[in-house]
Amino acid sequence: MKTFEVKATVEELSYSELTPKELELVNLAREATFRSYSPYSHFRVGAAILLDNGEIITGANQENAAYPSGTCAERSACYYAGAAYPDAKFRAIAIAARGTDGEFVPEPCSPCGACRQALLQYELLAGEGVKVLLVGAEKVYRLDSIRALLPFAFTEF
Ligand code: THU
Repeated sequence: MKTFEVKATVEELSYSELTPKELELVNLAREATFRSYSPYSHFRVGAAILLDNGEIITGANQENAAYPSGTCAERSACYYAGAAYPDAKFRAIAIAARGTDGEFVPEPCSPCGACRQALLQYELLAGEGVKVLLVGAEKVYRLDSIRALLPFAFTEF
């Protein structure tokens, strides 16, 4: 029997350690949480995606009375980016969240499994790692790819 490991490296940064472009993306993801429609969970998530054409697309979770019909912030942003700019490559994504108390979560919120799979597809289309910034109230987790969030992923397409 052989074994192998799947690992991810996560960098923890303070806001002052971010590059100006990273900070812009983080702030746009934070702002996007205010456009969340989440009357059921009251958990507001925002995402901001930087494309290689310089555009930044934002999205926020949109809930629905038929609960499974709602969509996470990450997928609302990535599907909009894909629909608006089909030829652009994803470069980076920032994800922020505010909890039921309305405050930004102290511990950065990491995307759900379905969003990881959806985002991975755009990373494969881009042909290189899409930087991930997971935003907490006072710290940011940085990963160099979506793949790091979804090791051992389904990629048979
Ligand atoms: N949600 C997101 O928007 N992104 C995630 O990665 C996890 C969860 C949303 C879905 C739902 O509207 C609310 O947060 C509570 O789960």
